[in-house]
Amino acid sequence: MEIRDGLTFDDVLLVPKYSDISSRSQTDLGTRLSRNIRLNIPFVSANMDTVTESSMAVAMARAGGIGIIHRFLTIAEQAGEVLKVKRSGSVVIESPYTIPPDRTVGGALAYAAEKGVSGLLVAGPDGRLAGIITERDLLFADHAGRVADVMTRDVVTARPGVSAEEAKRLMHEHRIEKLPITDGTGQIRGLVTSKDITNAADYPDASKDGKGRPLVGAAVGVRGDFLERSEALLGAGADVLVVDIAHGHSENELGTVRSIKKAFPDCELIAGNIATAAGAEDLIRAGVDAVKVGVGSGSICITRVVTGSGVPQLTAVMDCAAACRDHGVPLISDGGTRTSGDATKALAAGASSVMLGGMLGGTDESPGTVLTKNGKRFKVYRGMASLAASIGRKAKEGAAPPPDADLNDYVAEGVEAMVPHKGSVTDIIKQLAGGLRSGLSYCGAHTIPQMQENAEFIKMSRAGFAESQPHDVSVV
Ligand code: XMP
Repeated sequence: MEIRDGLTFDDVLLVPKYSDISSRSQTDLGTRLSRNIRLNIPFVSANMDTVTESSMAVAMARAGGIGIIHRFLTIAEQAGEVLKVKRSGSVVIESPYTIPPDRTVGGALAYAAEKGVSGLLVAGPDGRLAGIITERDLLFADHAGRVADVMTRDVVTARPGVSAEEAKRLMHEHRIEKLPITDGTGQIRGLVTSKDITNAADYPDASKDGKGRPLVGAAVGVRGDFLERSEALLGAGADVLVVDIAHGHSENELGTVRSIKKAFPDCELIAGNIATAAGAEDLIRAGVDAVKVGVGSGSICITRVVTGSGVPQLTAVMDCAAACRDHGVPLISDGGTRTSGDATKALAAGASSVMLGGMLGGTDESPGTVLTKNGKRFKVYRGMASLAASIGRKAKEGAAPPPDADLNDYVAEGVEAMVPHKGSVTDIIKQLAGGLRSGLSYCGAHTIPQMQENAEFIKMSRAGFAESQPHDVSVV
């Protein structure tokens, strides 16, 4: 049996090339996530329950990337997370939340809190706009009183198709923050909020769908409800689905990909995880629009320890990229990225984007609470195949293991960890993107595809690796 070499990021460096770039701003990080989805930066937040729910996905889309909502939620919860992302950034909210005028103020407050909004439109039984209630109207109102008694009745409205500029002018003229859209008969057709207009200006690189809403993806599995889940997620507006299991080069995965593509032919579909060209070929033949590469590379993975299986990430990306290139299918490098240098190497090796778990776990936007230990702040970041994640999932499904359950029945392929609390994900993505822009420049490239053409890797020895780190100094 022939044994090949397998390399990963720390085994290689990119050889510097002549560059005509004098400023990072001359580089363009635009890329393809999948056959039909473009991103402005090549970063994707991982579909893990300690990484991506709506608030991470919103931040990723604002930065120009995308977040994939994890699947360890009920179908309604996961679709709800997708909806929250979609509503967060559109200039016109198409179906604003409404409340009838005969509801109590307390009921309105509870409904607004549940939906995470600061105001509600009041709709009569015929669906026409009857008024609006905002924080100001509710502030000192009697909770037992009726919405009809506190709402603002004389509402400034605009007609469908109003431009952002015109909406802005109306809001300024009338000193209002919410502008309902109604048709000629008074039926509610949408809502523009000042926050959404400001967001549109504040995030010029945001990745958006055809309606100007943030891009968002969502993960599905291969068992049970995946078709029902896919339908709900697509219905909520998910731009892309990700069939995500640990061993993606499997009949289970291929069958799932075929079923989803058959049921929803227009669905943009990513599948993984794989680590070989044969895996990429099979997924592409089954109809995927991008493949996700990485087996055992993740920071919380113990797949390689437990099963002895996997491919070092750089070799996995290079092997799969060769197959993907022939079919024009983008590749996502997933797992093992710890620095902007790693991301640059993955992209230079043929990935179109990079999925990040550990780098984004522990941020303000990742799910979970901040814990304090020895005066330092942490958040939990855990593998989706860890014992803790599995028990958490079962508890959610109402099937928590009994106290005397034999935990040896479950073979974990991931660990639960604590990562330092890192502040906002926006700052981390800025650092990553800045490092990547410099990386492009060292490769003499203005764009990611150019870097892939120019890239020349050189293997390094342990001494070379040691030399690449800060050395012989005491780092402050
Ligand atoms: P990083 O290195 O960015 O990796 O933290 C994130 C990726 O790791 C994968 N993942 C797992 N792999 N056992 C595994 O073998 C697990 O429990 C596990 N949980 C996540 C996943 O591909 C993720 O995007």
